[in-house]
Amino acid sequence: MKKTHRILVLGGSGFIGTHVVSQLTARGLRVVVPTRHRERARHLIVLPTVDVIETRLGSTGALDDLISGCDAVINLVGVLHGQPGGPGDPFGAEFRRAHVDLPETIVRACERSGVRRLVHVSALGVSDDPANRGPSRYLRSKAAGEAHIRQSADLDWTILRPSVVFGADDAFLNLFASMQRRLPLVPLARPDATFQPIWVEDLARAIVNLIDKPTTFGKTYDLVGPEVFTLRELVRMAGTWSGHPRPIIGLPSGIDRMVAGIMEMAPIPPMTIDNLDSMSVDNVSSQPLSPELGISPSSLRTIGPAMFGGGNERRYGEWREQAHR
Ligand SMILES: NC(=O)c1ccc[n+]([C@@H]2O[C@H](COP(=O)([O-])OP(=O)(O)OC[C@H]3O[C@@H](n4cnc5c(N)ncnc54)[C@H](OP(=O)(O)O)[C@@H]3O)[C@@H](O)[C@H]2O)c1
Repeated sequence: MKKTHRILVLGGSGFIGTHVVSQLTARGLRVVVPTRHRERARHLIVLPTVDVIETRLGSTGALDDLISGCDAVINLVGVLHGQPGGPGDPFGAEFRRAHVDLPETIVRACERSGVRRLVHVSALGVSDDPANRGPSRYLRSKAAGEAHIRQSADLDWTILRPSVVFGADDAFLNLFASMQRRLPLVPLARPDATFQPIWVEDLARAIVNLIDKPTTFGKTYDLVGPEVFTLRELVRMAGTWSGHPRPIIGLPSGIDRMVAGIMEMAPIPPMTIDNLDSMSVDNVSSQPLSPELGISPSSLRTIGPAMFGGGNERRYGEWREQAHR
């Protein structure tokens, strides 16, 4: 098998992508990162061996140009929120574009260009049952995207399904830390929902490890950390570590839907009804982490306190504003 030298990282400008790109460059690989807004990827421009290219991925021509000269593709494009679709559109435009249409376009572009290796990042909670593709449009659209990847006979694909991902620059624990800084208490939907958080550096290392590993071809892996937490426990830890622990009030079901419905009208919704639906299934793996991934994941309890030690939680709002998110 040909070793990877130049790699296309779709979604490389995002939270996980930034850590993946940084670890790839540390291993001496050349990396191409497309972004819709070059400004959002300016932190990558300074990295040696990274080419940041401003483009739209929707058209096949754009992808063909990007893939040409690369040996492998990593797809990290994803969105957490999307409007419901109209008749005949089960996912809604945002989820369909990012999670369903784009993976299909990537597969076709890889097949045309002869690039065989594709690592696709999906999400834990995606169902393998064709009769029940999951409780939310987020999860069902991720399942439809995975199906496009699996249907390709020509590609050496690997699909990864992470649980919630934490890191100093994450959007999850930082959101709850920021809420506790601003509010006297936290009204929390689905406080008993469970997660098995994985550190972004571990996830990035697993991705980099498996790029040139043929034993991972044609396989789907859950990517999880060593501990399971309820949402209430995660919110409590974020409050404690950021120095603003607040009382957490679990919302009864029904009220939580109403609150999520109001929140999803915000320009940057902290929660949507679809997010609530995603949390109706445990975000926990039923299997031990595969040794093929080559990582021994760190504990959130060990990494978490340091994540908030440098004032990252206070800067998070500024980062989102700068990124127009
Ligand atoms: N973070 C988590 O806890 C978590 C958990 C499970 C699964 N995942 C999955 O992991 C992947 C990466 O997540 P992340 O947290 O790093 O996300 P993120 O920070 O929001 O980054 C998303 C990336 O996708 C790109 N993107 C979004 N919509 C796009 C579109 N319509 N067309 C082209 N590019 C688009 C963005 O690029 P530009 O804005 O620069 O164009 C950005 O680079 C996603 O597939 C996500 O579903 C994440």
